[in-house]
Amino acid sequence: MYGGVGTGKTHLATAIGVEACNQGKSVKFYRTAALVNELIEAKNIGNLHKMLNQLEKIDLLICDEWVYIPVSREVAQLLLGIQ
Ligand SMILES: Nc1ncnc2c1ncn2[C@@H]1O[C@H](COP(=O)(O)OP(=O)(O)OP(=O)(O)O)[C@@H](O)[C@H]1O
Ligand SMILES: [Mg+2]
Repeated sequence: MYGGVGTGKTHLATAIGVEACNQGKSVKFYRTAALVNELIEAKNIGNLHKMLNQLEKIDLLICDEWVYIPVSREVAQLLLGIQ
């Protein structure tokens, strides 16, 4: 979702997440920077495969605030699940 500050991107993403929960789906909501930090940490301690496998089991993974992350090659590869 794209849009100016305060136009409802997080609100809508949250609403979609809540509805998916109500339908019995498993949902995770991350600020993308936090997800990146967890991926880097998992990679550093040799747990990246385990974390990616756990993420793959989730029905809906919401990544909010993409705009705030530095787009290095490593970060892009981690987010796309390419090691
Ligand atoms: N459809 C809506 N109904 C009621 N409140 C809304 C709606 N859309 C947004 N809001 C409220 O407006 C405020 C701003 O929305 P939100 O935080 O979702 O914007 P955003 O697009 O994620 O902004 P940012 O770019 O700063 O992250 C929030 O308090 C949110 O709950
Ligand atoms: Mg937001």
